[in-house]
Amino acid sequence: MRVAHTGPRTRLILMDAGPRTSPVTSSAASCPPPAPRIMRSPRSPAHSGGTGSPARMPTALDAPAGGRPAAPLHRRGHRTPVRPRPPRPTRPPSHAARSATRPAARRETPMSTTATAAVLPATGQPFALQEVTLDDPRPDEVLVRIVAAGVCGTDMGVQAGHIPFPLPGVLGHEGAGVVEAVGSSVTTAAPGDKVLLTFTSCGTCPNCLAGHPAYCETFLPRNLVGGARPDGSSPVHGADGDLNAHFFAQSSFATYALAEERNVTVVSQDADLAVLAPLGCGVQTGAGAVFNVLRPTPGSSIAVLGAGAVGLSAVMAAALTGARRIIVADLVDSRLELARELGATHVVNSGETDLETALKDLTGGRGVEYAAETTGLARLLEAGIRALAPMGTIGVIGAPAAGTTAAFDVNFLLNGRGIVGITEGDSVPQLFLPALVELVLQGRMPLEKLIRHYPFDAINDATAAARSGEVLKAVLRVG
Ligand SMILES: NC(=O)c1ccc[n+]([C@@H]2O[C@H](COP(=O)([O-])OP(=O)(O)OC[C@H]3O[C@@H](n4cnc5c(N)ncnc54)[C@H](O)[C@@H]3O)[C@@H](O)[C@H]2O)c1
Ligand SMILES: [Zn+2]
Ligand SMILES: [Zn+2]
Repeated sequence: MRVAHTGPRTRLILMDAGPRTSPVTSSAASCPPPAPRIMRSPRSPAHSGGTGSPARMPTALDAPAGGRPAAPLHRRGHRTPVRPRPPRPTRPPSHAARSATRPAARRETPMSTTATAAVLPATGQPFALQEVTLDDPRPDEVLVRIVAAGVCGTDMGVQAGHIPFPLPGVLGHEGAGVVEAVGSSVTTAAPGDKVLLTFTSCGTCPNCLAGHPAYCETFLPRNLVGGARPDGSSPVHGADGDLNAHFFAQSSFATYALAEERNVTVVSQDADLAVLAPLGCGVQTGAGAVFNVLRPTPGSSIAVLGAGAVGLSAVMAAALTGARRIIVADLVDSRLELARELGATHVVNSGETDLETALKDLTGGRGVEYAAETTGLARLLEAGIRALAPMGTIGVIGAPAAGTTAAFDVNFLLNGRGIVGITEGDSVPQLFLPALVELVLQGRMPLEKLIRHYPFDAINDATAAARSGEVLKAVLRVG
């Protein structure tokens, strides 16, 4: 693998000795790829006039042919703010983007980052590693060297065709890495920072302003189905043109990702990114449902339906509250055993026992005060609703296919019972993720028990294991 930053005056190359396979063939058993080493290359003749003199990073004083400073970014070791380079629209730009673009005669050749990305060519197909180029960060963007990326059900939902993300494209939305460069207006992250990537939001709609960015009014196009920045441009380009990317404003199944400042959270330099990557979606979702939304009171009972990565994250969070009964239901006994290890007080194999009856029996007939539905199955949601105590609340977290409906007795809700949909744990990531990181570092949220690591080029083995249920949380070691 070779990763190169090419610019009008300099060339910085990151290299590692690992093989690059395309399409992916190696097995999960092989070792993680070695960490890249950084070396400077001689100036590229194509970009420097072929002098062959040693390369150096651009500075604000570097003036290319157009006479403008050549260093619009804050790159690692170069934090001096300089003027941003205009964006390079690769799809029909919006009016705002057009007016922000300089006339062609004055436009510089943008620098770009070459990366290896796992491209999903079409639904039902395997991922294939390909060389791609990424735009330089726009003023509000952050270029991240990806160290690890978790595999979430949502990635596989796209692969299976359940989520209408346009393809071919680059997925991945539990990225973790090190900041390589930031745009000129970024103030909360700097080159060299360790960061977690998560969902993005607009920051200006009523829900964002009210502190609920997961309910941003443009959440779906910005994160899930857009395949591009809000102005329609793609930041990732393949050999045959633009790729659909910007998935959760990251597309982190790649050695480099372009994120937005709003979906980047700086974490401690001590953080083990290969363990923390899943905080960006699955863990934040389950833990946030408990900590931010359901908030079980001391002495209460909570049921977690489904002991996958999301459900077990809810269990770990519930174990840190005063809840007296933490009841977990799943079909897989090994998952139920792990749930016990993580804090469940009771487990129910709902393939063998009627769930509603079991939940009532375990609560003296009263029902549970809180429930978190993480299987995405309507019949489990219905059973969970029926098993609610008066004033009980069930959080709907599992995501079934669009159009799925569930039935309940309307009168049953009149006793103060509630049903609430929850996205991404209704969290404010820059507040919530550091709090979760601290719990992990203290050993109070033993995330590592859920994780199995895979080398990046074994991504298809990782997704197969996640799909079959063999693995709870697959995490790719990317770099
Ligand atoms: N709302 C959000 O913001 C959000 C975020 C991430 C994931 N999700 C969704 O949450 C769900 C869970 O994600 P995950 O990563 O934990 O998936 P997962 O597949 O690992 O977990 C689902 C669990 O449900 C269990 N299950 C299946 N059928 C069951 C049944 N009949 N009874 C009891 N248990 C049963 C499975 O054995 C598995 O352990 C998915 O639908 C995913 O798309 C939602
Ligand atoms: Zn918003
Ligand atoms: Zn996810």
